[in-house]
Amino acid sequence: MSIRAQVSDGIAIIEIARPERKNALTAAMYGAMADALDAATNDAQVRAIVLHGAPTVFSAGNDIQDFLERPPVAEGSELLRFLRTLSAQEKPVIAAVNGAAVGVGTTLLMHCDLVYCADDAMFSMPFVSLGLCPEYASSLLVPLSAGYHKAAEKLLFGEPISAEEALDMGIVNRLVPPGQVLEYALHQARRFNALPPVAVRETKRLLRAGWRTAIDQAMAAEIGSFRQLLGSPESREALSAFMERRKPDFARAAAAGAIVSQSKES
Ligand code: COA
Repeated sequence: MSIRAQVSDGIAIIEIARPERKNALTAAMYGAMADALDAATNDAQVRAIVLHGAPTVFSAGNDIQDFLERPPVAEGSELLRFLRTLSAQEKPVIAAVNGAAVGVGTTLLMHCDLVYCADDAMFSMPFVSLGLCPEYASSLLVPLSAGYHKAAEKLLFGEPISAEEALDMGIVNRLVPPGQVLEYALHQARRFNALPPVAVRETKRLLRAGWRTAIDQAMAAEIGSFRQLLGSPESREALSAFMERRKPDFARAAAAGAIVSQSKES
C-alpha cells in the first residue's frame, strides 16, 4: 500500500509512501488519501491532519505512466475525488515537505492550511513543459499568494522554486532543518488539541469563504483544458520523453498533430 494512514494523539497522519517512484501518485493512492481525509472528518477525536511524504521526496506529482495509459481526469475519477475532498476539508491540514514537490505535489499545498518544508526542499509546477496547463486552482491560487508576475514566471516556465523562494511567494509558512520537518508539523498539529474545535473549523471556513466559489470555478475550467491537452500530440511527446529519459521533440509532435488534423479534415 502506497498510502499509510493512522490516528495518533488527535492527529490523522497521512503518509505518501512510494519512494521507488518518487511518491508519484496513482488513482489508487488518490482514492486512499480521499478515504483517509473522509475518515478524519468523521472522527471526532481528530483535531488536525498532517500530510507528509518520504524523508527524501514529498511527491513527484501524478504518475506519468498513468497520464499516458490511464488518464485520471474523468468526472468520477479518484483524482477528482481527492482534489475536492482535500479542498473542502473542514479540519486544519498541515503539510510537511521534504525533498521535491512536483506538479500536484506543489499545487495541493495551496489547499493545506499550514505548510512546513525542509530548507532544501524544491517545488515546481512544470505543466507547460509537459504540454499541460495549471490544475487544482493553481492558476488562481498562485497569483493570489505570490502576485501575478511571479506566478506567471513559475507557471509559464515551470522553473524550480527553492524553499526560500517558496517562503517569499507565500506558499510555505516556515523553513525547518531537514530531518525535523515532520516533527515540527506534528508539534504544530498537537496545538489544535488545546483549541476549541468548532471555533477552529469556523475560522478555517471563513478564511476560505471569499475564494470558495472562485476556487471551484478555477478547478472546473482548468480540468476542462487539462483533459484536452492531455490527449494532445505535445503532451504525449513530453510525457513519453520523460518516461524514456530523453528530451522532448515538439517539432515532431507538431508534425504528428498536423497529420492528425489533415486526416480529420479529409
Ligand atoms: N511518474 C512516474 N514515474 C516517476 C515520476 C512520475 N511523476 N517521477 C519519477 N518517476 C520515476 C522515474 O521514471 C524513475 O524511474 P526508473 O528508476 O524506472 O527510471 C524513478 O521514479 C526515479 O526518478 P528520477 O527522475 O530518476 O529521480 P531523481 O531523484 O533524479 O528526480 C524528481 C526526482 C522528483 C525531481 C524527478 O523524478 C521529477 O522531476 N519527477 C517529476 C515528474 C513530473 O514532471 N511530474 C509532474 C506531473 S504533472
